[in-house]
Amino acid sequence: MPFTETQLKPNSIIGSGGVRRYNLPGDKCSITRITTFCPDVIGPGPTHMYLIQNEALILMDTGIPTHLAKAFFYYWRNQPIPPEVENLSDDHSEQEFLEGMELAGYSIPDIDLLLISHGHPDHFLMGNAILSRGKAVVSAHILDTPEICNPWGMLNMWISKQQQMIAVGMPPPSSPKQLLKGDQLRGFDLESLGVSIKVDTPILQDSPLAISASTIEGVEVKHLPGHSPGSIGLLVGKPRGEKVLLCGDVLLSPITPHPDDLLVYLQTLEELGNYDDVALVLPAHGRIVKNLKNRVAFLKEHHRNRLELTYEACRMPRCVWDIASMPDYFNTYVDPNKFNFLAGLEALVHIEVLNMVEGVRRSNIRDEVHYFQSSEEPFEEIYGRIMELVADKRNRPIMRY
Ligand SMILES: [Fe+2]
Ligand SMILES: [Fe+2]
Repeated sequence: MPFTETQLKPNSIIGSGGVRRYNLPGDKCSITRITTFCPDVIGPGPTHMYLIQNEALILMDTGIPTHLAKAFFYYWRNQPIPPEVENLSDDHSEQEFLEGMELAGYSIPDIDLLLISHGHPDHFLMGNAILSRGKAVVSAHILDTPEICNPWGMLNMWISKQQQMIAVGMPPPSSPKQLLKGDQLRGFDLESLGVSIKVDTPILQDSPLAISASTIEGVEVKHLPGHSPGSIGLLVGKPRGEKVLLCGDVLLSPITPHPDDLLVYLQTLEELGNYDDVALVLPAHGRIVKNLKNRVAFLKEHHRNRLELTYEACRMPRCVWDIASMPDYFNTYVDPNKFNFLAGLEALVHIEVLNMVEGVRRSNIRDEVHYFQSSEEPFEEIYGRIMELVADKRNRPIMRY
């Protein structure tokens, strides 16, 4: 057994609240996973927060406060909220975190460093509740600080993605006026959205993890962009021993992470495929990954298949939402009424990579942006050009959309 896993508390009926501990044999470092509530039908599912203890106590990610999870995933999208979610108290996630800390043998003032894996709301919005009660300093990659440090980052993301999706053919939300008028949003209190956190030490490159000026032995930061510009992972373990990779949302199982830049994400997968000493991957949602190389191969194949499906669909002019809502594009039904903009963005990043290698062209038809195949080239030739771009490190990490 390359690692040990101990359950300290099982998940509750809503799939969160569980606490598990992971150890590498012979390594003094111990990692405790605390799972906090985030919806899994319309959202990515409960967020795992990780406590890493060696010479310092590091918390990776914070989860999302329950009232903001309800607002973002249900109220803002005008979606019916299940009673078991509506009945959760506003501080449900926070209570799960506090119980997890206690089971792990710690309290908030023990945390030395809060490390944010990336600037998505389910990873840092509970930060203020934690920081106000302790001494932790905060670190995150510089490229995601615009989201993490902006008090209106969450609202800005919602409004800008909404407009972007409507522009690529997605039907507008059912009550756009209500959704866009901030002070009328249900479950929405402008004051409570002052949820940005200050990053004390931005991460600029791959390096040993540091708190202020002190390096933490046996913890390496890796920049793994593509899910977001500033996504990072942590490699934990002795220098020549086996490692645990804490990867945020860069690798997930069983769901596949959404790339915000597919080309950069494919480059990150190539890099991860070369890691030879990882015994265990701990993602921020869903299941642990025991075989890194298999998961990387699965994700590469998944995106290859989705690129091919997208390319074939563009034999006729299509707008992005035509593609996203095609039967079989996703293995779950994409309900056009759910205004799940991630579905549209997933199709967009695949179409844009095909456009980049001139497999499809973009054009305006009847005031909408459509894409169509510019030649009858076999998909394998198009994919070959994409792989050439992926192999060219000079393309990294320029964000394109
Ligand atoms: Fe994410
Ligand atoms: Fe996430």
